[in-house]
Amino acid sequence: MSKTASFRAFAGIALVGAMALGITACSGGSSAESTGAAGSDGELTTIGFVAVGPEGGWRTANEQNIQDSFSKENGFDLKYAPATNGDQNSQITAFTSFIDEGVDAILLSATEATGWESVLERAQEAEIPVVLLDRGIEPNDTSLYTSHIAPDNVGISASAAEWANAQFPDGANYVVLEGPPGLSVVNDRNKGWDETIDANMKKLESQSANWSTEEAKSVFETILKANNNDVQLVFAQNDEMGLGAALAVEEAGLKPGTDVKIITIDGTKAALTALSEGRLSFVAEYNPLFGDTAIDVVKSALAGETVESDIVVPSVTFDSPEAATEALPTRQF
Ligand code: AHR
Repeated sequence: MSKTASFRAFAGIALVGAMALGITACSGGSSAESTGAAGSDGELTTIGFVAVGPEGGWRTANEQNIQDSFSKENGFDLKYAPATNGDQNSQITAFTSFIDEGVDAILLSATEATGWESVLERAQEAEIPVVLLDRGIEPNDTSLYTSHIAPDNVGISASAAEWANAQFPDGANYVVLEGPPGLSVVNDRNKGWDETIDANMKKLESQSANWSTEEAKSVFETILKANNNDVQLVFAQNDEMGLGAALAVEEAGLKPGTDVKIITIDGTKAALTALSEGRLSFVAEYNPLFGDTAIDVVKSALAGETVESDIVVPSVTFDSPEAATEALPTRQF
């Protein structure tokens, strides 16, 4: 049965104008305290970007968008500091160096959700605004940072579960392929899914495949064998792992999209191509392109204006090959 081509815009809290849990950030650093971009003296605003580094299609698109947005032409000198092999200690070292350098603002995409309190307090003492990109911190003490900018992980995974409920009104066996343990996005994606999935849907396994196609293929091959292929659905928490699951399904002589439906999150071109081919069944975008919003937040913070502590980036979902085919020509990542 061909599903009507459709995609839904999934916007959480409006980007601007919503009731703000306003935090007036202190102007930070050594320069451009007035405008947040090149000051009247032409000096660039210095930004320390404590980043994750190479991790997959989504991360590449997000970090490139941030670096393109905070360009010298836009009045910024962005210092990019990717983690070493995803290691939080390397991020904390870079974060501390940026404080010591007296950058004007720090952007953080955390490789772990916990363990940030002391460096965030040090940035506050130095009056350097910190903006969290994508990844949150736990416990989520909003007094420790200026703003968090990301799509709504809880809402996105809830919309995936709603789709799954509609696909399997009489229930099904399913498997969750998670990102690395300890990440806020993984916890939130589990939360949204678990709160929404119907009681007659049976979770056989929930296992991390660390955002990796290869690892997801291996993990799901093992699970299929252990369950005599009696799995009808996979909730993969990112595109790469969903594509790995599709390979495992094909390796088992089954047909992805028919024998096993696969849901993914991110919305990269690779995933939408697989959806257009019927190898994936539902793709929820986790929009990585929010550099302009981050610039607005940094400028407002440096100007001493009230800034929303949680800014939700709108995202869409794709639930059919037709919707994916229609969208692909204009996709940017
Ligand atoms: O934090 C966002 C997640 O990190 C993306 O869903 C995943 O692809 C990336 O590696």
